[in-house]
Amino acid sequence: MNLVILGPPGAGKGTQAARLSEVFSLRHLSSGDVLRAERKKGSALGGRVAKYMDAGELVPDGIIVEVILTQLQDSGGSKGVLLDGFPRTRAQATSLDKVLSGASRRVDLVLSLTVPDELIVDRITGRRICPTCDAVYHVRALPPAERGVCDHDGTPLIHRTDDTEAVVKQRLTAYYEQTSPLEAYYREKGILVEVDGTKDVDGVLEALSAAIRSRLG
Ligand code: AP5
Repeated sequence: MNLVILGPPGAGKGTQAARLSEVFSLRHLSSGDVLRAERKKGSALGGRVAKYMDAGELVPDGIIVEVILTQLQDSGGSKGVLLDGFPRTRAQATSLDKVLSGASRRVDLVLSLTVPDELIVDRITGRRICPTCDAVYHVRALPPAERGVCDHDGTPLIHRTDDTEAVVKQRLTAYYEQTSPLEAYYREKGILVEVDGTKDVDGVLEALSAAIRSRLG
């Protein structure tokens, strides 16, 4: 079972993908987390992608496709993969289809989270993340038990450098211009399900889980 979760920045893709991957025994592969890990390591790849990420622009297809499709080959013993943040352009989607079909696999379902722009800014400016385990919190909607500290490993939480209002605007522009056309691409294939992402975290999780069960059994 290979799933994609789509949606604008801050829609809740990472929050839901972490939970769904546990419920359905899927490997959660987040392109944003992979790139942030490379930056943290100080790798050559991390250096190449930093300027795009900090400006809220998409990393060029030639870079991201190679990174994610290489990772995809390692299924880690799970029942499939849940892709979060990839694909984000038509070229990435067709590369993904090609690699999966070469392994007699395919994208089975695409979950598209719909959240209006007004909510996005609040979600993003209130987000805090754990730099050790990538857990995601929100100062009001999803706070940690102890303020500013990760529940899982006690690491002080941080604010992502691209989580400013100015960069969010650019990320939304990139989303509407380059990524939202993928909804039509997957709708034509009959595998797109739209889910209201404005409910609380548990409400959205329930709706996404129901969509997966009804489509894939
Ligand atoms: P990436 O990390 O993928 O960022 P994004 O798509 O902008 O998505 P976010 O991580 O901001 O949001 P999310 O939808 O995961 O929301 P979350 O669950 O955290 O990419 C970063 C950058 O990397 C890109 O800008 C680009 O430069 C590059 N990149 C990555 N992939 C690429 C690709 N394929 N091609 C090219 N470039 C690529 O939730 C947000 C907040 O809301 C949190 O605080 C959370 O607690 C809260 N929240 C979540 N759900 C709810 C809810 N239901 N109610 C209330 N609050 C909620």
